[in-house]
Formats: sequence, structure tokens, C-alpha cells
Amino acid sequence: MSAEHDRIFIKNFSLTIVGLMIFTVLIIALAIGIHNRLELSDTPSRDAARQDRLQPFAGVYAGETGRAAAEEAAAAAAAAEPQVAFDGSLDGGLIYERACASCHDGGIAGAPEMEASAWAGRLDKSKEELVANAINGIGAMPPRGGRRDLSDEQVEVSVAYMLDMLE
Ligand code: HEC
Repeated sequence: MSAEHDRIFIKNFSLTIVGLMIFTVLIIALAIGIHNRLELSDTPSRDAARQDRLQPFAGVYAGETGRAAAEEAAAAAAAAEPQVAFDGSLDGGLIYERACASCHDGGIAGAPEMEASAWAGRLDKSKEELVANAINGIGAMPPRGGRRDLSDEQVEVSVAYMLDMLE
């Protein structure tokens, strides 16, 4: 009788344990399922996904759309505008010092130094011709001394400055 009792107890007890194990696994599976469905904000990719979803609403209702577009257009226009060297300065001395002196002060690369003897022959040319050569480049001198952002006028005033120095 007692052995029969034990057998029944062990059988019920085992069933209970197995049942609890199955229950545990189900709970874990359920928890994982819920976790995957929730939009938690703790991962960057989820944050980014939610930002994306909110974007059209934020853009439309925040009143920023027009301004953002205008700023973008202004930035594009500024980028398209040709950049003029030295803020468009027409100070021949300043331009010479920054764009021309590197070669012409020291006679680098065969550049005529800023003394009259080096310019013998060249001074026979008209100022217009000298300016045109400085703009287009001549011999080892690149166009505009390599400063493509110099305007024609800026090259002209720096040539004028050079010619003044030679007098
Ligand atoms: C990379 C060096 C270099 C720079 C920078 C440079 N030059 Fe020259 N330049 C030369 C050389 C070399 C010559 C002589 C070219 C030749 O006659 O073969 C020359 C010649 C000239 C001449 C005489 C052109 C002629 O018809 O004889 C003028 C004017 C002149 N440069 C102006 C300028 C001005 C203005 C700048 C600055 C905007 C400038 N250069 C920057 C190298 C340079």
C-alpha cells in the first residue's frame, strides 16, 4: 500500500515539475514575443525608425518647412556664386603680397623679380598686354598666378601695383 502511495506521489510530482517547466518556457516565449513587438527607445535603430516616421508630421506642422527650404536655397545660391579672392579686394599691394610675391619677390621659377632690370623688354609691352598675359598665364606663370579665384580686375590692379614698384 505504501509503495503504491509513493508511486502515485512520484508520478504526480513529476507531472507537476514537467508542467511547471512547460509553463516557464511558455512565459519566456511570451516575454520575448512581447519584447519584440514593443517599440522600445533603447536602441539607436529604433530611435531612428521612429524619427523617420515622425518626420513628415514634424516637417509639416512645426512651421519649419518653409524656412528650412529657404535656408537650403540660400546656401545653394551662395555656393553657386563665384568666390572672389580676398573678399573682392582691389588693393593691388595686398593681392600682390598674397598671390604674386611668392614668385615675383624671389624670382622663383624664372619669374621676373621686382627690379627694373628684370623687366627690361617686358616694359615695352602695353599694360593691357601685361595684364592679359598675367590673366591667361605666360611661360612658367600659371593663369592668374595660380589663383583662379582672382577676378580680371584684381589681376589688373596687382599688375598696376607691380608696374608702380618698377618706376
Ligand atoms: C608660380 C609663380 C608665379 C606667380 C604666383 C605669379 N607669377 Fe607672374 N610670372 C611668373 C613667371 C615665371 C613669369 C615669366 C613668364 C615668361 O615670360 O616666361 C611671370 C611674368 C609675369 C608678368 C609679365 C608678363 C609678360 O607679358 O611679360 C606679369 C605682368 C606677371 N607675371 C604678373 C603676376 C601677377 C599680377 C601675379 C599675381 C596675381 C603673378 N604674376 C603671380 C611666375 C609667377
